[in-house]
Amino acid sequence: MDIQCTPEELFLIKKVAHAAQDAGIEAYLIGGFVRDKILGRNCADMDIVCVGDGIELAKKTASLFQPKPAVSFFKNFGTAHIRVHNYDIEFVGARKESYRYHSRNPDVVPGTLEDDQNRRDFTINALAISLNKDDFGKLLDPFNGITDLENKIIRTPLEPEQTFIDDPLRMLRAIRFAAQLGFHIEEKTYYGIKQHIDRIRIVSQERITEEVNKILMCPQPSIGLDLLYQAGLLHLIFPQLVDLAGAEFIDGMGHKDNFYHTLQVLDNIAPNTDDLWLRWAALLHDIAKPATKKFEEGIGWTFHGHEVVGGRMVPKIFNQLKLPQNEKMRFVRKMVELHLRPISLTKENITDSAIRRLLFDAGEDLEALMALCEADITSKNKHKVKRFLANFEMVRKRLKEVEEMDQLRNWQPPVTGEMIMETFGLPPSREVGEIKTAIREAILDGIIPNNYDEAWAFMLAKAKELNLEPLSGNEKCKS
Ligand code: CTP
Repeated sequence: MDIQCTPEELFLIKKVAHAAQDAGIEAYLIGGFVRDKILGRNCADMDIVCVGDGIELAKKTASLFQPKPAVSFFKNFGTAHIRVHNYDIEFVGARKESYRYHSRNPDVVPGTLEDDQNRRDFTINALAISLNKDDFGKLLDPFNGITDLENKIIRTPLEPEQTFIDDPLRMLRAIRFAAQLGFHIEEKTYYGIKQHIDRIRIVSQERITEEVNKILMCPQPSIGLDLLYQAGLLHLIFPQLVDLAGAEFIDGMGHKDNFYHTLQVLDNIAPNTDDLWLRWAALLHDIAKPATKKFEEGIGWTFHGHEVVGGRMVPKIFNQLKLPQNEKMRFVRKMVELHLRPISLTKENITDSAIRRLLFDAGEDLEALMALCEADITSKNKHKVKRFLANFEMVRKRLKEVEEMDQLRNWQPPVTGEMIMETFGLPPSREVGEIKTAIREAILDGIIPNNYDEAWAFMLAKAKELNLEPLSGNEKCKS
């Protein structure tokens, strides 16, 4: 079989074959590694299925390496794992599986290779390659997986109903593989998904979100998200996104379909970033449009404040989807909140002050924000797009000029809260905040230059307005 392995991969595969022969165990390479190597894709996970004890084969394989890698195993599931040469090798005994209706955890009974291939999700994932002496390298393909790979088809080996009832996560996997590999889901298989979407409820949120993340990382994420929507799965796993779909009309005036607009924004940003979180920001940038939508007489449809309300929705959505509640979430929130700012600068006269504020608010995430805003231009009117992009170039130029002049990115005002407290002998208080904000605003508005001496003088003047005097000896700036 012509699979395109690297010499290192072949070396590892031969070691497993060696161990299997020593132990007298029948073994096969199976699943994603075989699929990806036939497709010429990189893959660092090897799955080995053996007719016998997977844990024993893992231990035997590990003993052939110097230094010997650790073997981790789950006795109850009969699975084991080793990591060598940056490859993860999983071992499992061939099994017949029968799933309980309300759980994804199967009752496992040992079986033959064929039993094992039967219980796999798709024909393209059921391909096996023999590691046995008599027919090393022979492809075992009982369901014509190779033909499906050639024709770019996702199909279940058994009746779709059986495969999806056994493990409903496979509905998401089918869609993810279609999006990731650019494959088509065979009609009966797709129908099987539509029939069983409700079963997704027994799948853990973590697994669902893992698949959504993989869809977002595809070259064209819209393919997977639209399939999720068309199949009805998106309604169950991410209803807020479905709320974006559709266009309402009043007095002949409609607004754009914000679901398909969002998918377009994602596809626009995908070639420019591999950052999952920027892709999440693209997905969520208009999430509050349904909540803020209004029809205003004489104006038409408005979505005032959707960026602020959307920003507030981000932590809730991250919580619901079990995404991290950390700086990644704060980044997505910030992007959602700021996503209108650069474009608003292209509409009015761009003052230095507006540019400074954007530099200050976006900080180190300015490039990401600009990429999001550019991706957000999805008008079908070519002239409009051209005009927006030209304006955008101007904003970029101005940002660069002001940045070079004022060095505002990741900037902290030259006079800190601690300095204010020390100078006036104040505890943390409203006055300290007021003086600090006034200094920052004066710099951003260009009233005073961005330096320590001017900020100090401004602080003294502002404090005077609040009837505050510096403690004796503190009147002088310490520069
Ligand atoms: N598998 C399955 N049903 C699942 C998950 C996995 O039948 N719900 C089988 C498939 O044969 C799959 C193999 O287990 O190829 C390995 O699973 P996994 O490593 O999760 O997926 P890969 O197919 O390798 O692809 P990816 O790593 O991209 O998820």
